This record gives sequence, C-alpha cells and structure tokens, in this order.
Amino acid sequence: MLIDTFGRVATDLRVSLTDRCNLRCTYCMPEEGLQWLAKPDLLTDDEIVRLIRIAVTDLGVTEVRFTGGEPLLRPGLVGIVERCAALEPRPRMSLTTNGIGLKRTAAALKAAGLDRVNVSLDTLRPDVFKTLTRRDRHQDVLDGMAAARDAGLTPVKVNAVLMPGLNADEAPDLLGWAIAEGYELRFIEQMPLDAQHGWKRDGMITAGDILDSLRTRFTLTPEGSQERGSAPAERWVVDGGPHTVGVIASVTRPFCRACDRTRLTADGQVRTCLFATEETDLRATLRSDASDAEVAEIWKKAMWGKKAGSGLDDPSFLQPDRPMSAIGG
Ligand code: GTP
Ligand code: 5AD
Ligand code: SF4
Repeated sequence: MLIDTFGRVATDLRVSLTDRCNLRCTYCMPEEGLQWLAKPDLLTDDEIVRLIRIAVTDLGVTEVRFTGGEPLLRPGLVGIVERCAALEPRPRMSLTTNGIGLKRTAAALKAAGLDRVNVSLDTLRPDVFKTLTRRDRHQDVLDGMAAARDAGLTPVKVNAVLMPGLNADEAPDLLGWAIAEGYELRFIEQMPLDAQHGWKRDGMITAGDILDSLRTRFTLTPEGSQERGSAPAERWVVDGGPHTVGVIASVTRPFCRACDRTRLTADGQVRTCLFATEETDLRATLRSDASDAEVAEIWKKAMWGKKAGSGLDDPSFLQPDRPMSAIGG
C-alpha cells in the first residue's frame, strides 16, 4: 500500500504521458510554449506499463488516470491502455484531455479498455475559446466530446475554469448546455500552477462566485446522500435532479485531508501532490535493472514524504517549479 504519515492511502494514480500540448491556455502556459522534455528523458511505453503494473499488483492502486500536457499527443496511448486493461487486477482507467483528436481515437480507446474521459472546455463561444487557448479549435473539442459520449466513454465529464473578464459570465450557459448534451459539468477554481506564475488570489473566481452565478438560473441543492470522500468535486443537484454540477474548490475548500492520489510525471518522477516541492526519481531505478520490489519500495518511501496539504494558505507558500502541464492536472 502507498500510505503516508497522515494515514491516507493512495489508490488513485495519475500518469502524465507527455508535457506537450496543442493548446496554449493562458492559465497554463505562455504563447510560445515551454521547454519540452527531451525524448530520452520520457519514460518509454514499456516503462510506463511496468510502473502501472507494479502500482496495481504490489501497491494497491485501483484507478489510473492518464493526463498530460495533452495525453492524446502520445503516440503509444492506445497500446498503453490496452496493456493496462490486461493487468490483474484490472485498474479502472480514465483520461483527462483537451478533446482535440478525440473524435479520431474515441472508439479505439474504448475498445482498448478505457472507461471514461474528462474533457476541458471553458467556453461555448468560439472567439473566447481562441483568446483563451490561443488556438482556433473550438469545434474539434465539441466533436471530440460527442465522439467520446457516442463511443460509451461515459460519464463524459467537462472541466471548466472561469476567469474574470473572459468567460466568468458563462457558468449558467455552460450548465444548460452540458445538461442538454448529457455531460457532467464541473467548475474548477484556478490554481497557482501556471508556467508564468501569474496567478493572483484576488483575481480568481471562487466556488462561491460560481454558485451565486448558477443560482441566477438554476436551483441547486447539495448532493447530500453521497459523501465527497476523496473526490475533488463537490456536487450539487440541479433543479431537483437528475442532473448534477460539480465545483472543484481546490483553493477555497481544499480536500487534501482525503487525498488518495499519487502521481507520475512523464519523465518518471513520483509526485505526492500537485503542489509538492520535491520529487522522487523512478526512471533511474527502472533503468538500473532494479527489481519490481525495489521500485515498489522506493515509491512507498516517497509517499511517506507527502505533506498534509497543498500549503496554499501558508504565508510561505511557494508555487512548484513544474507547471500543471508537466505535472498532469
Ligand atoms: P474524477 O472526478 O474521478 O473524474 O477525477 P478528477 O476530477 O480528479 O479528474 P480531472 O483530471 O478531471 O481533474 C480535475 C481537476 O481536479 C484538476 O484540474 C485539478 O484542478 C483538480 N485536481 C485533481 N487532482 C487534484 C489534487 O490532487 N489536488 C488538487 N488540489 N486538485 C486536484
Ligand atoms: N488551475 C486550475 N485548473 C487548471 N487546469 C489547467 N491549469 C489549471 C490551473 N492553473 C485544468 C485544465 C484541465 C485540468 C486537468 O486542469 O483545464 O481541465
Ligand atoms: Fe494544454 Fe491543458 Fe495546459 Fe490547456 S490546460 S494548455 S489543454 S495542458
């Protein structure tokens, strides 16, 4: 088991498959992109599958999420999913993507054993999408989501980050649209994980703002029966049901106490938290003929160093060097 000194058990593994992306969301990276990891530094498909095998067979991981950058840019993605689906015990598998290219790959991913997808979409307006992501790909994202839904990669969850002056007024429209399309919408508070270090607490749209805005058009009641547990999203029932909307309030209502995550970066570092300032290298161990048991032992030890929380409210908080795109959201 991957247990930390606070007694939390990590059963949810998030695997970043690449730090590259084909969008340039302003809350994530600069227009010119970033210094991408060099190919030899990336874990190979075999190394990734081996680590996931160790995680599910020796370390008690039951859920695997593939992230990026943009994971659909990883050429071996379908093969990786297929090989992980053959593991015993078989982990549940999901993908967090910007949706570009999903139209082409949704059916193959489903056939390979992927269970579901979360797609990022912050706006229904193509012009705002272009300003926000610096790319004119709005329709590709919508097509990708529809393809995922039609392929049975469900529930399709949609992640939206709201920013003042850009899309902050769109919360009710986004919810109406998601309900009509059969997607499960979640709003995410913007976090200090942008490469430019431009995040300001004063400027962010909070969970409270989002709920106020949604209540101008919908009646929201807390989804009481279901404990939030380790899920980042707090869910609300819309207009008496059956639809729900989620709010991921990582900044104003952190859920660190119930965190069940461990992370692998595309270059083979274990991160115990999005906001961890230290990493543990597994790549060198993998490439040194170490046994599975040795790798598992290092991973377990890394988890002992997991901090109680993100530290966002500490006066001494330091944003991690790695931006979100190189951590895997
Ligand atoms: P499901 O609800 O199971 O689909 O997963 P998820 O919400 O964890 O998945 P997703 O990759 O869509 O993540 C959505 C957002 O949750 C991320 O962008 C983060 O904002 C937030 N999040 C995910 N993991 C963490 C975490 O460990 N800590 C914090 N603070 N936020 C997280
Ligand atoms: N704060 C909050 N969410 C972010 N995402 C990317 N950068 C940030 C940030 N700084 C979101 C993406 C995606 C998810 C993985 O994380 O929009 O939906
Ligand atoms: Fe790409 Fe995701 Fe960052 Fe947007 S938030 S630039 S989709 S990695």
